[in-house]
Amino acid sequence: MNNIIPQEYDITAEMRQKLKGHEAFVLWFTGLSGSGKSTLANLAEKNLFLQNIHTYTLDGDNIRGGLNNNLGFSEEDRSENQRRIAEVCKLFVDAGIVVIAAFIAPLEKDREMMRKIIGEDRFIEIFVDTSLEECERRDVKGLYKKARAGEIKNFTGINAPYESPKNPDITIKTEELSINEAVIKIMDFINPKINRRK
Ligand code: ADX
Repeated sequence: MNNIIPQEYDITAEMRQKLKGHEAFVLWFTGLSGSGKSTLANLAEKNLFLQNIHTYTLDGDNIRGGLNNNLGFSEEDRSENQRRIAEVCKLFVDAGIVVIAAFIAPLEKDREMMRKIIGEDRFIEIFVDTSLEECERRDVKGLYKKARAGEIKNFTGINAPYESPKNPDITIKTEELSINEAVIKIMDFINPKINRRK
C-alpha cells in the first residue's frame, strides 16, 4: 500500500442504492459440496430478480474457472479464494447490487475475514446444513466417490475440515425442508431488509 492514496469520487454507494431503489448486500451460502448451495442460490436470485432487484451470482465452480484459476484446495488457497471473492463482493455491493455467493467457505476464520471485508451489516450468512451422509448419498458431481477412492486430496468433509457456522443468520436443513419451504424461509428474512423508497 506504499504510495497508494485512495481516490474519492462524488457518486457514493448510498446514491447508487437510492438509484436502484433497494439495499445492496451479500447473501453468502456456505455448506458442504453437494449440500444444495447453488440450487438455493439460483432460486433466491430468481425470486429477487422478479421483484426488480438487481442481483449477481458468484459461484465456487465458476469463479475457480476464471478469476481464481490459479488456486487449489489447500487451506491457504481456499483462504485466498475467499479473500478475493469477498473483495469482489465488496465492489458489487458498492455498485448497488445484491450478491448471491455460493462457496463452501469451510473455516470460521475465513468467514470472519469475509465479514470484515464486506462489512458486518452487509454480510448475510446462510448455512446450508446438509449432513455429510446425505451429500455423499446425493453425490451429484461424483466427487465424493473419487475422494473416497483417494483420487482427490483435501476434499471437504472427507479429508479436509468443514466448521459449521456458529451463528448464521439463516440455517436451511435441506433434509427437513422442501426446496420451496427453504426459499420462503430465505425470502422472509431478506424481504424486510431489501426495500427502500426511491
Ligand atoms: S472453497 O472451500 O474454497 O470455498 P469453493 O466453493 O470455491 O471451495 O469450490 C468448491 C467446489 O470445487 C466444489 O463444489 C467441488 O465441485 C469442487 N472441488 C474440487 N476439489 C475439491 C476439494 N478438494 N474440496 C472441495 N471441493 C472441491
